[in-house]
Amino acid sequence: MKQTVSVKNIGLRGVTVADTKISFIDGEKGILIYRGYRIEELAERSTFMETAFLLLNGYLPSTKELDNFENQMRKNRELPDYIYDCLRRLPMDADPMDMLQGAVPLLAMVDPDLHEDSRDANFRMAQRLIAWLPAVTAAWHRIRNGRDPLPPDTTLSHAANFLWQLTGTKPDAEMARYLDCCLVLHADHTFNASTFACREVCSTRAHMYAAVAAGIGALSGSLHGGANARVMAMLLDLESEKDLAGWVKDHIDRGERIMGFGHAVYKTMDPRAAYLKDMATKLGKSKGMEKWDRLSKDLERIATTEFVARGKTEIKPNVDFFSAPVYFMMGIPRDLFTPIFAISRIAGWSSHVIEEKFAEAQDKPMLYRPQAEYVGNYCGLMGCVYDPLTARQEQELS
Ligand code: CMC
Repeated sequence: MKQTVSVKNIGLRGVTVADTKISFIDGEKGILIYRGYRIEELAERSTFMETAFLLLNGYLPSTKELDNFENQMRKNRELPDYIYDCLRRLPMDADPMDMLQGAVPLLAMVDPDLHEDSRDANFRMAQRLIAWLPAVTAAWHRIRNGRDPLPPDTTLSHAANFLWQLTGTKPDAEMARYLDCCLVLHADHTFNASTFACREVCSTRAHMYAAVAAGIGALSGSLHGGANARVMAMLLDLESEKDLAGWVKDHIDRGERIMGFGHAVYKTMDPRAAYLKDMATKLGKSKGMEKWDRLSKDLERIATTEFVARGKTEIKPNVDFFSAPVYFMMGIPRDLFTPIFAISRIAGWSSHVIEEKFAEAQDKPMLYRPQAEYVGNYCGLMGCVYDPLTARQEQELS
């Protein structure tokens, strides 16, 4: 028998709402695992395709299974033709996250599996979405810059093909590998706001695409995935700042947040940030752009010291702090940072949708339906009859 908890908990912090076998965070120790595997090991030794298979299926694939999965993904990279027409009709200054969120229901309309709510059909939808989100992001970027979208190159890996479709240049192996690592690192993160949004939507038995569109909307916010683009805006603003410590103090004194710092779960360094910090150093050297690596590390040191001085020892850089200079040094436009987060997180979102829909009977989550405490008016009495004349008179008197 499931229990009803009637304790008010703003923001649902610390409330366990479901079981999951997909990922786990130890916020005290700074550990993140996907299906039992540590994120650092996956970033080092796996690929995004293998990680997506792992998240979706619960185990690492054999060579044959991975080949089949990758081949299917390569076939899925073609977008339906009418998507290009739709993209061409959008305002060219539309935010890419709004475009992406809007494109998902458009893609749903041609998915042959949309109305078959079986586990297999949901796997196929997940595979299409994982291939389509990068394709639509790249196509939009070219269209908004007055260029034609490029066809996918099936000889390239998932990450390399995205960079090719985005820029029209085949990336070198190092760049493709860095992006692939970033996709691995962002692929899942337990019940964060966007994943919860996906699970909440599909708990109504809405389809995968409806859930993913909600997830993209949640991810766009500045306290969630939208922070990465804002980190870069901040670094660009601080490029010639002589008094970083003064800037940090003023910023916090004004009650503003330093983007890319703090986390609802980690009480220590976010393991993804630690990995990306190293990547920023390597990229800075190989691209001759060390100043961004230096600036982000200076800001990290100064802001951390300031937070400690204010007794906020737990506020450390999160994944968005170092992904920002990494993407910037890779030459990715700033407003595509958050879409790239989505291009990766789609692997986690779709795995969670499948888990939410097809958990074994004893673990099956219910329709999410929290309560809120009503603190509004009762117009005098509970059950009072609405009388517009009295309501107007009361309003005039108040
Ligand atoms: N800069 C300044 N102060 C901060 C920050 C920050 N980045 N983060 C937390 N605080 C302060 C906050 O002002 C509050 O102070 P007080 O108690 O004096 O009012 C205290 O710390 C607790 O804040 P909170 O919002 O209750 O803490 P939280 O654990 O819910 O915050 C957070 C998590 C991510 C919303 C927050 O740290 C934040 O706003 N960070 C900046 C945005 C950001 O980087 N988001 C990316 C999150 S990780 C990746 C992802 O999910 O996409």
